[in-house]
Amino acid sequence: MTKTHFPTDRFESAQTPFYYYDLHLLDETLKAVTEYSDVPGFCVHYAVKANANPEVMRRIAAAGLGADTVSIGEIHAAVTAGFPAPKIVFAGVGKTDEEIRTALELGIGCFNVESEAELDVIEEIAASMGVKAPIALRVNPEIDAHTHHYITTGLAENKFGIAREVLPALIKKCLESDHLQFKGLHFHIGSQITDLTPYKILCERILELQKELEEKFPGLEIPNLNVGGGLGIDYDEPDENPIPDFKTYFDLFKRYLPLKPGQKLHFELGRAIVAQCGSLICKVVFVKEGLGKRFVILDGGMAALIRPALYQAHHKIENISSTSDIMEKYDVVGPICESSDTFGVDEILPLTKRGDYMALRSGGAYGEVMASCYNCRPLPGSLYSC
Ligand code: LLP
Repeated sequence: MTKTHFPTDRFESAQTPFYYYDLHLLDETLKAVTEYSDVPGFCVHYAVKANANPEVMRRIAAAGLGADTVSIGEIHAAVTAGFPAPKIVFAGVGKTDEEIRTALELGIGCFNVESEAELDVIEEIAASMGVKAPIALRVNPEIDAHTHHYITTGLAENKFGIAREVLPALIKKCLESDHLQFKGLHFHIGSQITDLTPYKILCERILELQKELEEKFPGLEIPNLNVGGGLGIDYDEPDENPIPDFKTYFDLFKRYLPLKPGQKLHFELGRAIVAQCGSLICKVVFVKEGLGKRFVILDGGMAALIRPALYQAHHKIENISSTSDIMEKYDVVGPICESSDTFGVDEILPLTKRGDYMALRSGGAYGEVMASCYNCRPLPGSLYSC
């Protein structure tokens, strides 16, 4: 029902490589997110870093989600797409003064603060503007999310978040300041998490920490808890599992993280919302006979989709033109002069020829948005299902 169909006849008029977005699947995914997160106190944000394509973002905003952003560029993109400023949170370890000022002017919902140095600068800027900055402190929960080391973020050795030992001093600072408003605590443990156990541990850590802080600060209110994003998707079988298991995910938090009266629980999902609706479409430039190897050389490579080169990620590769029953073994590579520009080794594909269209599936998250002009190649464009 949600299997992506590729209208190759429409592709003739588009310049490859480009991203093809199955908007029906995006809408179905958003429907599932809103249905299963329909729990008192739950607020789902979309992590814009996953995909800032205007049409994709517009649909997510229309579904009523908030936005999680990490730069003023993302904040502007979110406002343009229709996310109301109070539903935008601003995270990131390196917010500049200019970004902080503009975010305060726009009236965003919350700054997710990652260090004492940042807190001091936000206070100074808010004071100079005569406003009160809404603050959530990002705590490092020291949980191993068991994912790729580049996208594990909740360990003490990572650059993110505030150590538990330092947290009380920063809460005190917020409570005593005329220009800071303590809104809550923020956590994020990593990305592409498929075994949900680390989330259960996160819930336990949060409850423990909340109790500890309430003892330290009698009467302290923590109006918002934010558990970040990270829910993974099925890169191997995008058609079998086009929509992640949001039910199990939200049920886990409902079960293991009981909220106080009036308390809100925020989520910042990126990949789980957009990954499966996007595919990178490339054309086969040559089929090259190597020594004991046959290479399918595409016109799009690591500049269009960097995840395989950067994280050794594998995106399912499909020949969407071939109707042949003959199966062959190929290495599927891009045109860029780096060995890491490889999408797949020993891929079994139907007989492939020059001019065929190939789809690199599950590219809706961290695909288009991470593309570059390396080798002076134009950025990939985008095409949408009707
Ligand atoms: N919240 C925070 C604070 C984050 O740092 C991230 C992702 C998210 C939410 C959204 O995580 P998601 O639900 O998408 O897993 N480029 C990498 C992923 C980097 C993720 C960075 N932070 C990739 O292609 O796998």
